[in-house]
Amino acid sequence: MHIAMIGTGYVGLVSGACFADFGHHVTCVDKDAAKIDTIKAGVMPIWEPGLEGLVKSNIERGRLAFTTDLAEGIADAEAVFIAVGTPARRGDGHADLTYVYDAVRELARAMTRPLVVVTKSTVPVGTGDRIAEILAEEGAPHGTSVASNPEFLREGAAIRDFKIPDRIVVGADDDKARDVLKEIYRPLFLNQAPILFTARRTAELTKYAANALLAMKISFINEMADLCEAVGADVQEVARGIGLDNRIGAKFLHAGPGYGGSCFPKDTLALLKTAELAGVEQRIISTVVSVNDDRKAAMADRVAKAVGGSLAGKSIGVLGLTFKPNTDDMRDAPSIPLIQRLLEGGAEVTAFDPVGREQAQPLLPGIAFAEDAYAAATDADALVIVTEWDEFRALDLDVIAKKMRGRALVDLRNVYDRLEAERAGLVHFGVGRGQNGQKTV
Ligand SMILES: NC(=O)c1ccc[n+]([C@@H]2O[C@H](COP(=O)([O-])OP(=O)(O)OC[C@H]3O[C@@H](n4cnc5c(N)ncnc54)[C@H](O)[C@@H]3O)[C@@H](O)[C@H]2O)c1
Repeated sequence: MHIAMIGTGYVGLVSGACFADFGHHVTCVDKDAAKIDTIKAGVMPIWEPGLEGLVKSNIERGRLAFTTDLAEGIADAEAVFIAVGTPARRGDGHADLTYVYDAVRELARAMTRPLVVVTKSTVPVGTGDRIAEILAEEGAPHGTSVASNPEFLREGAAIRDFKIPDRIVVGADDDKARDVLKEIYRPLFLNQAPILFTARRTAELTKYAANALLAMKISFINEMADLCEAVGADVQEVARGIGLDNRIGAKFLHAGPGYGGSCFPKDTLALLKTAELAGVEQRIISTVVSVNDDRKAAMADRVAKAVGGSLAGKSIGVLGLTFKPNTDDMRDAPSIPLIQRLLEGGAEVTAFDPVGREQAQPLLPGIAFAEDAYAAATDADALVIVTEWDEFRALDLDVIAKKMRGRALVDLRNVYDRLEAERAGLVHFGVGRGQNGQKTV
């Protein structure tokens, strides 16, 4: 099968490379000429484990190509995936569909025969209907189908998620689209990946419902963590105690600084907007959004308390900037409001992130960047773990303690426990660790 992928970002590049690895012929198209040149030169524009090798081997086998020219990209294609960004619209938080609709208009003008157009971008219910209208308005060949195939991959584990998905959701209202998508995903049937065929609108909403529920789990455990701190319980154990229940599941029950990233914040807002436009209240998700906003805003207060109440003149080391480990993605990362508030409070911040520095630098003016975790700890009054990169899991806390000026280890991801920190002479400030005299802030 020949496939074109419009948008070569975190989703488009991974999906394109994985489809090529299944044996399909894929051309990835992007407007960003610098990005396409970079990939052609063998350098990945994003940091995603395993991606470079996957892209390289499929280019070498002649199954994966890159271009800025849409007409060239769709020349042999039977299916065209749209994987452009759908950020939150300034002002009202609804999904900004400008990139999607622009891509569809360009596509309609470049098409010479009917194709199956598949939306992989996360788009609000009804976007597929509007895409079909635009294609017709712009004179796309008769017989063109529009399907929805939302993507559920997670950055940092994107290739594995794409190749061994929990499920594939296809929203299609005609047989041609269903047949083409079945053929594209046929290699995954060998892995017994369930494929769900639904109506297009149902598939569009399924993606938002999934992200909203996961965001809710995170906010739930964060509120439980607050309660644990107040009543002397340990949220790690509560999470394990509830997560072993199959009806609940252990994932997304890690208390921390609040969810961030390129999906949950914008998708929860867009879902609320969809509900508002439909005249249907979504009180749970509305609460989740405000709980999470408040949580992110409150993280700097935890650091302030750990250094005696005031941030003025304090030196704070920060470990981890990206919204989660194994990605360079800084979109809506909890580190951003945290660090902004630390700076506003008069602190000096020195941060280290294993891969996020390039993306973080323009977003965090006024901070210093260290070359490693130990350099970030040097002369710090408090060391704050914001992102749980693996390399922060086995730090030599004795060395850290010697390098620091103060004693506070503010562990917003519960990487360490109180006793380990105490042995090194540090005071551990975890999240939701209220048990056995555990200090919380
Ligand atoms: N990042 C994730 O983990 C993830 C997971 C699931 C779903 N999604 C969804 O997938 C979509 C894409 O997300 P992303 O993180 O890959 O975005 P991204 O910003 O990394 O990539 C989007 C790419 O599209 C390109 N583009 C924009 N308009 C174009 C056009 N007209 N023609 C060609 N290229 C164009 C941009 O240059 C950019 O390279 C979003 O809707 C997002 O919500 C993302």
